[in-house]
Amino acid sequence: MYEKFTERARRLVSLNATESTNAVLKEMIKSSEEPVFAAVLADFQTKGRGRLGRDFYSPRGGLYFSVSYPLLGSEKNIPFLTLLAGLAVSEAISELTGTATEIKWPNDIYLNQKKLGGILCELVSAGSLTVVAGIGINLSTEKKDIPEELLDKMTSFAAEGIAVPDKTALFSRITQKLDEYIYEKEELFGVSKKSLDNVRRLSYSIGKNIKYKTQNGVIEGKVCDITENGAVRAILTDGTEKEIFFGEIIQ
Ligand code: BTN
Repeated sequence: MYEKFTERARRLVSLNATESTNAVLKEMIKSSEEPVFAAVLADFQTKGRGRLGRDFYSPRGGLYFSVSYPLLGSEKNIPFLTLLAGLAVSEAISELTGTATEIKWPNDIYLNQKKLGGILCELVSAGSLTVVAGIGINLSTEKKDIPEELLDKMTSFAAEGIAVPDKTALFSRITQKLDEYIYEKEELFGVSKKSLDNVRRLSYSIGKNIKYKTQNGVIEGKVCDITENGAVRAILTDGTEKEIFFGEIIQ
């Protein structure tokens, strides 16, 4: 079903159910002495994982997959990879469905102010240092089937009354784009100006007021930019500028 998903030859494992496609792919490649190009898909996940150790609700009816990206060159732009994956997802959705989504820093895909999907990038040592990019998108879950505690946070194409895109086509387009953005630049893992501009254009976060927890308490400000380091740049209420690289911002 998914064989022709990319021009780059990849080992592809397509599962009915699994705990987490990221966990399966990491286990699959961790003892390899060669760089591994592989992908794992599942119809549903029993322990889908999100950023900051959170769960990712993954019922049947969504697209859940993980793809490995061996680091063939510079590692300096790894932090931007999650945003590149967000760009690939958002653009693929727009091309296939005409639906505009936004990238909420650093790893969420937003539709109508709610989370349509998420990205979890993890690093594994497998022959060469490898990024496992895990992507989950809510497709046909009906509103009535969304757990109550997620109702005001999560959405899907079906819940928004939008025609559900074909899973295979979406998977193909996202991975084609990611391959292109990650490997076909002059500098491997380089962030092209075009990608950076597109991430900024599709950003849900720019212009939003935020709160961010530091060791010394909560700071507040407004997001003014996304940087090529994959950080959020904010102007704080005291007028100073701050770059935030990790952790949770409330936006
Ligand atoms: C997040 O919400 O913080 C990120 C969610 C990432 C979910 C995807 S689904 C496929 C892959 N397998 C996982 O366990 N997580 C990622």
